[in-house]
Amino acid sequence: MTPLIDPFARPISYLRVSVTDRCDFRCTYCMTEHMQFLPKKDLLTLEELDRLSSAFIRLGVEKLRITGGEPLVRKGIMSYFRAMSRHLESGALKELTLTTNGSQLAKFAGELVDCGVRRVNVSLDTLDAAKFQAITRWGRLPQVLDGIKAAKAAGLRIKINTVALKGFNEAELFDLLAWCAAEDHDLTFIEVMPMGEMGEENRLDQYWPLKDLRARLAERYRLTELAEKTGGPARYFRVEDTGQKIGFITPLTHNFCESCNRVRLTCTGELFMCLGQEDNADLRAPLRASPDDALVEKAIRAAIARKPKGHDFDYSRQKVAGQMTRHMSHTGG
Ligand code: GTP
Ligand code: 5AD
Ligand code: SF4
Repeated sequence: MTPLIDPFARPISYLRVSVTDRCDFRCTYCMTEHMQFLPKKDLLTLEELDRLSSAFIRLGVEKLRITGGEPLVRKGIMSYFRAMSRHLESGALKELTLTTNGSQLAKFAGELVDCGVRRVNVSLDTLDAAKFQAITRWGRLPQVLDGIKAAKAAGLRIKINTVALKGFNEAELFDLLAWCAAEDHDLTFIEVMPMGEMGEENRLDQYWPLKDLRARLAERYRLTELAEKTGGPARYFRVEDTGQKIGFITPLTHNFCESCNRVRLTCTGELFMCLGQEDNADLRAPLRASPDDALVEKAIRAAIARKPKGHDFDYSRQKVAGQMTRHMSHTGG
């Protein structure tokens, strides 16, 4: 089987599957308060998600990340994880993992481990309960902290994803770092991207470039860049003074598109070849047209053949460029 290689000679080995666009939080930079969600009838069934994911794995995908919205609010989602674990057992898949807001982890951590999940990325922007409620609108910090605790107790390695937000979590930088060191969690900072409608001024106001954040850290700590790659877009550093590992995801200040290895499948079967471009391919029609996977494989190959070079996000010149009207919850980050 010829592996998936895009027009820029990048092998595609990482599939992110957004299993629902729904979420039990309403993070201000991700969603509006009154989001219109997709009608349930448009969703792929869990069996269809299995068929599509398995087609990608057959074509060479080795890393599968389940996202949302919040993936753990999709009804019956554990049967999909269970189904995917067979690809870990066969050796075709190297990693099965998820990105979650942590709210349901207390309930599902044990089962996730049973399905072969070894680490989870948990989104957490602040350790202050009032601020947490302000940024997530509907979230409660203790519930998330309990979820993280349960995940750790179940043996999962945890990476905290923190969106760097000017004037919001700036003052907490060292507290977040210290908490992750004490709990032995990895930590990754993310530059806020222009996804979903939000006033231009608000985006620019909240944007905290990670080169500034890094300079702030370097005032107190020695950072050494690591060669390590997880197959994700983060660059990793060791904080020599604490021994912990931190990552930086910098779509704005340092574009990592040249090494992009991933595509994104939505819960309705659209395939997005780039987080920062509108073009997508419908995989639901070929999936439903025939029980045989030949049409689906052909559609996947045709989609990869038009994967764009990269996104056009740019905030320089004090203007938001490359804005996507699509919300992050649609494609799962
Ligand atoms: P690891 O396997 O732990 O390296 O995870 P990851 O960084 O691949 O996944 P995660 O879901 O933690 O991604 C963190 C965030 O990075 C995403 O939610 C996005 O905001 C951003 N991100 C991931 N991939 C891309 C990408 O291809 N382009 C851009 N612009 N941002 C991305
Ligand atoms: N810019 C950057 N990161 C975002 N996320 C959600 N919306 C945005 C945005 N506009 C992050 C979440 C989570 C991941 C899935 O994407 O905080 O960590
Ligand atoms: Fe939900 Fe994640 Fe979006 Fe927050 S960032 S609203 S937790 S999907």
